[in-house]
Amino acid sequence: MLAYRHAFHAGNHGDVLKHIAMMLVLRYMNQKEKGWRFVDTHAGAGGYSLHSTYAKKNGEYTQGVGRLWGRTDVPAPVADYLDLIRQFNGGSTLKQYPGSPAIANALCREQDQLRLFEMHPTDYRVLASYLAEEPGVEVKMSDGFEGLKSRLPPPTRRGVVLMDPSYELDRDYSRVVTALRDGMQRFAEGTFMVWYPLVGKLPAVQLPKRLKALAPKRWVHARLTVQPFDARGFGMAGSGVFIINPPHTLHAELNSLLPWLHEALKQFDGGGWVLEQKAD
Ligand SMILES: C[S@@+](CC[C@H](N)C(=O)[O-])C[C@H]1O[C@@H](n2cnc3c(N)ncnc32)[C@H](O)[C@@H]1O
Repeated sequence: MLAYRHAFHAGNHGDVLKHIAMMLVLRYMNQKEKGWRFVDTHAGAGGYSLHSTYAKKNGEYTQGVGRLWGRTDVPAPVADYLDLIRQFNGGSTLKQYPGSPAIANALCREQDQLRLFEMHPTDYRVLASYLAEEPGVEVKMSDGFEGLKSRLPPPTRRGVVLMDPSYELDRDYSRVVTALRDGMQRFAEGTFMVWYPLVGKLPAVQLPKRLKALAPKRWVHARLTVQPFDARGFGMAGSGVFIINPPHTLHAELNSLLPWLHEALKQFDGGGWVLEQKAD
């Protein structure tokens, strides 16, 4: 049985980076009428109470979305993100945080599809009760790396894959690379997003390099460091998102966003942000 529960981490600085990047990608997809498919290989519960004992244990969201909540001087992508969270909360009190499936569900249109995989039985039940009956949505309690294979390519040949494992097992780093390689063979033009934690573990440090080696012509890599690295290997200093076949607008959008986001989320006088790309 897997021990990881995203409820402890929902709304933390890693979620902020991942979910804003994801919204920028899906907003771009919505500029065309043709439908898209979003595959979330590691979907989580879909939504989280920030008043639960899980969320309160370390209060991670207070150092993530909590730092942005209530601010009015925010760049457009952050305003869009905060609006979506306000809608999810039904008002301006921050009680719940939407996971990636809820964010995709908020942005999808009649012609779009969600394919969601979650292995933890409790999180799967919550996710399924929330979204399984929605038109165009499939929720599966099975391995997302495996399930991805039969969901690609989408019939419209427009799609976004989010790979966001817990990295509870070191083999997740290698499985990301293998699943990406396979996914890109099935759907070369698809947009693939990988989120990863900045932790002092060799497979984590090596992952961006491995993704670059795998990626074809176009990618964007964004990383935010908000806490000092813990020499004992505890905690998460920040996180990164690696996007293959990104929207053409994404690099410029992240370039204006990341300095602001770093300033807003940094927990010490240091860290920083990195933005790299390979373009046509
Ligand atoms: C980081 S969380 C996902 C968070 C979610 N994507 C979001 O942004 O809101 C990772 C999730 O993957 C689940 N999980 C772990 N291994 C899995 C696998 N092989 N296939 C599908 N889900 C898995 C965990 O139970 C956990 O809920």
